[in-house]
Amino acid sequence: MILVTGGAGFIGSNFVLDWMTHETGSVVNLDKLTYAGNMENLAGIKNESRHLFVQGDIGDRALVQRLLAEHRPRAVVNFAAESHVDRSIHVPGEFVQTNVVGTFNLLEEVRAYWDALEGSEKSAFRFLHVSTDEVYGSLGEQDAPFTEMTPYAPNSPYSASKAASDHLVRAYHHTYDLPTLTTNCSNNYGPYQFPEKLIALMILNATRGRPLPIYGDGRNVRDWLYVGDHCAAIRVVLARGKTGEVYNIGGWNEKTNLDVVHTVCTILDEHHHDGVHVPHASLITYVKDRPGHDRRYAIDARKIERELGWKPQESFETGIRKTVRWYLDNMTWVDNVASGNYQNWLTQNYANRAGSKSAAGSAGEATL
Ligand code: NAD
Ligand code: DAU
Repeated sequence: MILVTGGAGFIGSNFVLDWMTHETGSVVNLDKLTYAGNMENLAGIKNESRHLFVQGDIGDRALVQRLLAEHRPRAVVNFAAESHVDRSIHVPGEFVQTNVVGTFNLLEEVRAYWDALEGSEKSAFRFLHVSTDEVYGSLGEQDAPFTEMTPYAPNSPYSASKAASDHLVRAYHHTYDLPTLTTNCSNNYGPYQFPEKLIALMILNATRGRPLPIYGDGRNVRDWLYVGDHCAAIRVVLARGKTGEVYNIGGWNEKTNLDVVHTVCTILDEHHHDGVHVPHASLITYVKDRPGHDRRYAIDARKIERELGWKPQESFETGIRKTVRWYLDNMTWVDNVASGNYQNWLTQNYANRAGSKSAAGSAGEATL
């Protein structure tokens, strides 16, 4: 039995589905079901007796205490978080509440639970905290990729709140000996990603003939990792990671946002060659930049490969094809996600970013 938090979100649900395929144990899945949590992500295991879903908050100490006491997990894997940088610019308080205060409350209950364990149960227990490469800040074009020794320099309310949670996890190991593991991963993409993040948003907009909003000059660089590879890495760290250690996880796939969006458009052109919006790249629209937009992230993932034998199985080319195909094959999921409050988010984030059809300075307003 393991306790997974945030297991109805993008990466968490992929992890739980993956766990059911690759492992024999059970999962208690604690998720608050915010806008980002979606039970449809878990539809494939709705009759699976090894999966127990509990709606609730990681900051609800009484609930966490009860779940730990009742189910006696051998590990807690913490995915629960507010995860979208643009939202953190609009509502930073929610990020502090879940990512910092929530993680603190979770750690306190886990510490009390672990303290009371004995023998092999105690020595085998792990708390794995899922974090991000954004805590390391922004790289220049020629800088070496982030290693586990790179100093923290978070730039957004999101990354600052994740950095704070990472520090708490580190302190709980150092001070209380809690057997923690921390992973810092680059940008994920794949099935079940909420269409507020770049790739999912671009697929959704392109298939509907809507503008594809590129922030700034589109030359910001991210390292992209297929979500299934991230899930495999977490399973490896949980099984073989050394307590108190940090593992960077990345795909060795640095791409500019423009490259990513052009790739998505080309794949969609192949699938929809007779569609009215072909070439989909004609929908690309440059919009006002994200405030404080980090220029480049890159991950040095040699430690996890050297020490634990993990490396990604998907290249960007194979992963992105699978992803586009998944969205095209799961339009009902997309339609359900894109109804209701999602429209409010689009208005809040994009209404004041008047767009132009090509790079800054050129003419042509676009409705976003
Ligand atoms: P997501 O936003 O898709 O999902 C987050 C999940 O957490 C949702 O199901 C939500 O309902 C749940 N949640 C939010 N607040 C909660 C609370 N207080 N209590 C319980 N559940 C709560 O996020 P994601 O993209 O799947 O990211 C998961 C984790 O991985 C996050 O910690 C994120 O920081 C980290 N991460 C994400 C990426 C990425 O590219 N998406 C990369 C590296 C690390
Ligand atoms: O690096 C890991 C992080 O990756 C995770 O910790 C975060 O949870 C996850 O959201 C992601 O953060 P980013 O800010 O990099 O992801 P996002 O998909 O929001 O944006 C990717 C890039 O695309 C970024 O440079 C901003 C740009 N972008 C994004 C959106 C939503 C656009 O140009 N237009 C858009 O509409």
